Order: sequence, then structure tokens, then C-alpha cells
Amino acid sequence: MLQLPECLLGQISYEEFLRDYWQKKPLFIKNAIPDFESPIDEHELAGMALEEQVESRLVMEKGPNGENWHLENGPFEESRFSTLPETHWTLLVQAVDHYVPEVAALMEAFDFIPSWRVDDIMISFAPKEGSVGPHLDYYDVFLLQAQGTRRWQLGGFADDKTPIVEGVPLRILREFNVEEEFVCEPGDLLYLPPQLAHYGVSQTDDCMTWSVGFRAPSADEIVTSLADFIGETLCEDDRYGDPDLELQSYNSQIGPDAIARVKTLVLEKLNDDEVINAWFGRYMTQPKYMDQLIPSEEAVSESDLSENMASGAVLNLTEGSRLAFSDTESGFVLFADGEGYPIEAQDKELIMHLCEQKYLTSHELFSPSEKTMVNLSELINRGTLYLSD
Ligand code: SIN
Ligand code: CO
Repeated sequence: MLQLPECLLGQISYEEFLRDYWQKKPLFIKNAIPDFESPIDEHELAGMALEEQVESRLVMEKGPNGENWHLENGPFEESRFSTLPETHWTLLVQAVDHYVPEVAALMEAFDFIPSWRVDDIMISFAPKEGSVGPHLDYYDVFLLQAQGTRRWQLGGFADDKTPIVEGVPLRILREFNVEEEFVCEPGDLLYLPPQLAHYGVSQTDDCMTWSVGFRAPSADEIVTSLADFIGETLCEDDRYGDPDLELQSYNSQIGPDAIARVKTLVLEKLNDDEVINAWFGRYMTQPKYMDQLIPSEEAVSESDLSENMASGAVLNLTEGSRLAFSDTESGFVLFADGEGYPIEAQDKELIMHLCEQKYLTSHELFSPSEKTMVNLSELINRGTLYLSD
């Protein structure tokens, strides 16, 4: 069982971290998790990379044809691992927390950051000199050394204009000036803000690094998704109008008055906190892999749920499923795997408890309203929640 420390950041309080480091500068914490032992080894990780539904990659510094930086996407054949060179490669497996509860348990240590900001835990394994090259990521990451040793070199902040190595299927930085260096051993933790150039190289034959990555949708993704969401609620009658139209000198000109009218329409639709709230909760709880949200085999009714809970069952959040809630003047909403469920005031505490704890026991699920039981059974049927003994 993973033994988590009281405070993951050593001497630095969570308030201090958020104020001085989060999205601002890197932080290295020596021995953040004392006596850390990885609950998963390289053989299990390689086993996961054989699976169709698991996202995995193999990065080699020299490809099979002698080319620099070579990328292969999984799933892999078992035989692929016996033909790898002794050094200079890395196997990366995404979302290991969705499949291995002992890995998911680490997430609890990050509860000082909103859970809906978390993306997944990626795990890499590398023999000596294995690396994915100097690069930048567009999201915050905590790098936990799980096994072996990795040297991390950090550069400055970079962006999408920083030159990258051309003709390579990875975004490897052409120039990398080392500003700081850390050698990470098991239990050490390195926080990197988005866009900070970094380069980690394995120093041992058994280097395993866990990356706790966060979600930060781009402005493009946000605007596109919000516009789609709002678009679905609008009717055909609602359109551009110009009852104030005046005679124009040039009949083909699009003038400032036309722009002002269309801007008013756009802002009117967008500038509604309730709508943004309804969209954002759904958006940020969308599962990483939508096709892994598997509906329950047998339909569960609210009375099935009541009966199960009465006989001591526990209601659990499925690994990889995401919950969040919002509590505003217009009501309380539970967001689950991309959907929104209005909740009556009497069940607020119960749902908040489910979101925070990620399970409910029969003692906790005490006399909820019929509507809430219907919502919870729907979440079981969708695959977000499941019952266990
Ligand atoms: C690695 O674990 O090798 C790479 C992680 C990263 O740089 O984001
Ligand atoms: Co990175």
C-alpha cells in the first residue's frame, strides 16, 4: 500500500506552492515520498503496452535504420521488447492510473489542486541513457522518480516558435541551454510549470518515472467546444438582424455598425455565467478515453440500487471516470464524465462527499431523494459508478 506523506511538498506549504511555484517556476523536493516503492514493475508496464486499449509509445534515440529520434506507437508485440538495444530507449504508457488502483492512489497526494485539472499518470521506463530528448510540454507536470535514477536538466521557458529538430516525429528542441540540474532518486519529486524546457536522461538500467499531468485546454479547444455547446441550445429564429440599417455609400462595405451588431449577438450568447458553468463542468469531466466508459451489462434501476446499498454494497467511482460539482445561485450540479445532473438541495452534502471521497457506503447514502437515486443509477448504467460488496 502506498504510504503518502502528510505534505507532499516537504517544508513548502500548499498555499506557498500555489502562490510561488504553480504555473510559475520549477520545484524539486528531495525524498517527497520516503521509502517509495513502485507498485508496478517494468514487466507489468511492458505487459500493458501490449494491450489494444492502452496508449503507449516507444522512443529511441537511434531508430532501426540509424536515424535520429525514432517513435513507435503501441500496442506492441511481445517480441518487440526482446529486440530493443541495451540503452537509449524509453517506453511510455499513458493513463496507468486508469488501470492500476495502486497507481491511482497517488492522486490523493495531489488534492491541493482541483481534481478536474488532473489528466492522468503516465509512466515511463528506460534503461541507461534512455530519454525522450529535450522538449517542452503545454501542461504542468509532477515527475515522481519511482525506480532507478534520472538526471533532469531544466532550460528556460520556450514556446511553439522555439526551433525544433526537423523531420522527427517528436517535438525535440534544437537548442537547449541548461539552467538547473537535479538527480532524482526513488521518492524524489520534480514539479515543472508548462512550457519549461526539460531533458531527463536515465542514469540506471531500471529508471521508472511517473508523470502526473494536468489538463489545460487551449483557447482554440475552449472556444470551439463552448460554441458547439451553445449552438445546440439556439433556435433558427435567433439570427443576425439589422432593423437600424442605414443607407451605405458603398453597398459592398462591411462597416463598424455591422461588426457591432454581430459582436453584440456573440457576446450576448457567450456572456452567460450559467451557460459557461454548465459547459465547463461537462467539458472538464470528459473522460480521457470516451470509449473506455463502458455501460453496465445489466440495467440497474433505482430500486436495485436501494436494495444493494441496504445489503451493504459500496458505490465506487470507476477508474478513469471524472466527477466535479458546482454550487451556484441557479442550483447545485453534479458533473460526471461529460454530463450534468441537477441535484436537489437536500442531497448536496451527499454528492459533494461522493465527489471528494470517490465512493459512498450504505451509511453515507442515507435517505436521498428519489431523483438522486435515479441519477446515481443512471451513472451506474453509464459506467461512471459501479457497485461492489
Ligand atoms: C519521461 O518520463 O521520460 C518523460 C517525461 C517528460 O519529460 O514529460
Ligand atoms: Co516532458
